[in-house]
Amino acid sequence: MKMFFKLTLILILVSSNLLIASDFEKYDQKIADLLKRMTLKEKIGQMTQVTLEIVAHDHEEGIPLTKLKMDSLRIAVVKYGVGSILNTNNAANSAENWIDIITTIQRVATEETRLGIPVLYGIDAIHGSNYIAEATLFPQSIAMAATFNRKLVRKEGYITAIETRAVGIPWNFNPVLGLGRQPLWSRFWETYGEDVYLTKEMGREYILGLQGEDGDISQPDRVAACMKHYAGYSVPLSGKDRTPAWIPENYLRELFLVPFKEAVDAGVYTAMVNSSSVNGVPAHASHFLLSEILRKEWGFKGLIVSDWRDVINLHVRDHVAASEKEAVKMAVLAGLDMSMVPFKYTFAEYLEELVKEGQIPESRIDQSVANILRVKFALGLFDKPFPDPKRKELVGKSEHAQVSLQAAREAITLLKNENQILPLKKNTKILVTGPTANSISYLNGGWTYTWQGSDERYYPKHYTTILNEIQKLAGKQNVRYESGSSIDQLLNVKKVVKAAENTDVIIACLGEATYCETPGNINDLNLPKAQTDLINELSKTGKPIILVLVEGRPRIINSIVKKVKGILMAYLPGPYGSRAIAEAIFGELNPSGKLPFTYPRYVNDLVCYDHTYLEDYDGNHFNPQWPFGYGLSYTTFKYQNLKINKKEFKKGENIKISVEVKNTGKRTGKESVLLYLSDLYRSVTPPVKQLKRFEKIELKPGEMKTVTFNLTIQDLSFVNRANEWIVEPGDFKITVGDQTATFRLID
Ligand code: BGC
Repeated sequence: MKMFFKLTLILILVSSNLLIASDFEKYDQKIADLLKRMTLKEKIGQMTQVTLEIVAHDHEEGIPLTKLKMDSLRIAVVKYGVGSILNTNNAANSAENWIDIITTIQRVATEETRLGIPVLYGIDAIHGSNYIAEATLFPQSIAMAATFNRKLVRKEGYITAIETRAVGIPWNFNPVLGLGRQPLWSRFWETYGEDVYLTKEMGREYILGLQGEDGDISQPDRVAACMKHYAGYSVPLSGKDRTPAWIPENYLRELFLVPFKEAVDAGVYTAMVNSSSVNGVPAHASHFLLSEILRKEWGFKGLIVSDWRDVINLHVRDHVAASEKEAVKMAVLAGLDMSMVPFKYTFAEYLEELVKEGQIPESRIDQSVANILRVKFALGLFDKPFPDPKRKELVGKSEHAQVSLQAAREAITLLKNENQILPLKKNTKILVTGPTANSISYLNGGWTYTWQGSDERYYPKHYTTILNEIQKLAGKQNVRYESGSSIDQLLNVKKVVKAAENTDVIIACLGEATYCETPGNINDLNLPKAQTDLINELSKTGKPIILVLVEGRPRIINSIVKKVKGILMAYLPGPYGSRAIAEAIFGELNPSGKLPFTYPRYVNDLVCYDHTYLEDYDGNHFNPQWPFGYGLSYTTFKYQNLKINKKEFKKGENIKISVEVKNTGKRTGKESVLLYLSDLYRSVTPPVKQLKRFEKIELKPGEMKTVTFNLTIQDLSFVNRANEWIVEPGDFKITVGDQTATFRLID
């Protein structure tokens, strides 16, 4: 039995963070010198972060222009000495306006405070720089994950950094590294999907795009990344945003912590804390998460910022602190560096009292201030606090939009194509219908010009809808449009059914409205009934129906899947998604996206692909609508000759795997080759398989490529009952496409 062979090898995970660590150390002297000159009040000010809204006049509706309130700004920056300001003022500002705002803030900070410490401005640039009116927006992360293309994610990060820093903002609160394993969750689309390896890979690429491979964020085209929300936020048991997660420690370490550890190794400069709780302990009060794991185990040297109001939430919402003051003490002693207060200054006032009363040692404050100053030094803010107005031209460059379009193209996932209904011929007579057919905001989702993304007054006029792009490719004369239903209400059904009469095919664009965070909570994963009713009515016409799904999470569509001939999953593909969708419909593009999550068939059957054997055993069936990694093409690929270089391996030896992939169809196509590993027996019940590598290739008709992968012993490891990473000898299986092969690890 395998248990007897158990290796006691605990993996010593050597941190590749060394470069960044030494880079960080080069500021130690400067930090120490500055700290010596700072008063307690000034130090605590650095730990305080407020929202732009409290230092600005209300945004005039629909106009991207913020005016600062100089008296409030001076209260924040001079009186309280805040270290950081965040957010936009309810809606996106123009690049020019941002440059003015940042210049004014930095002028006050550097010229009117005793020590002239610049402010660290932070923003949510979630899919491109979504709070700059002219910036390039990208597909949301769930769609970026579906591309299985690391290069595109890296480029997204890089372009986001260029455009964000161009207006003087040096800090981006992204990427989201939680695993999207709870499809009800309203932030599902901010994740890279359910898989730990895919998330880890995409998260790292995005961070390297933002910060550069050498981590030199003083460059004018770099920003500091913020991995969030550390950790466990993404799997609320109830499915509602900011509600508790319950994650056993071995599972936490084996899945949820991995992408964060990878980010630390990649040199991420900052981290934001999970707004909710894990195993009953709010993350903001968790010494275990913040200090023991992040700082001690992983050696993280960056800045830890709270989420929105979450220090005070320890008292008012979570009831773990009996007063606001106790909440402040709890969070700071747990290891927090900066509080996103974001409206009130009580955090600073209580913290000063706590230090004066001896309840928090000043040395603890010094550590946090050092972490904050280190990021400011690394960003070069002391030397160059002001934006360079000339760089404004870099915002929204046309070549940046090309990358966004390419990402949307590679994200689109073909889920069904009965009798090759797709692609359509251009002279087909088409009825376009459904709530997402003629909307620009639904393609983008939350974090688009406003927090909820729903106010289309802020959207650029050149953005197009799916209808617009279908009309362009098919010719207006061939396209009829009837909305048919809103997101949750049937509209003119009779009219839409009548309109179908003279057409060859119906394209029904379904999905979700825009939403973000708690306002996006739902009680039911089913696609709203109005939309399934629309399909039921249209299916009576006998005309073939093609579904286009524009949605941030997999809404259940089981009852209508059989009634339609083709299904294209678009996710939230961003502003150029409309064009990519139309190109896919008419075959100008061959879909190559794959699902980065398991698409459930039933609302109460939410099982991920890397489930245990038990979940597909006896009376239990793993029976999703489509599994993780699913996605069709207009061509066909054949996998053959899966080979492993040896049958038996000793620890320390690398495992070399190769497979041939051939395009057996008639079109050029891209294929993401996914390699899964199964540990057949181990002392903690194993997942049936887990993604360990992927590579996206392109093949012409008849072309064959050999794809090779290397696995190391670390890829075979898991977290045992004592919560340690170990490797156990035994039998393993590799699966790539329909090919499998086994090997043995010997003691
Ligand atoms: C969100 C964070 C975000 C922060 C600042 C919070 O409500 O949870 O993801 O970075 O607001 O806007």
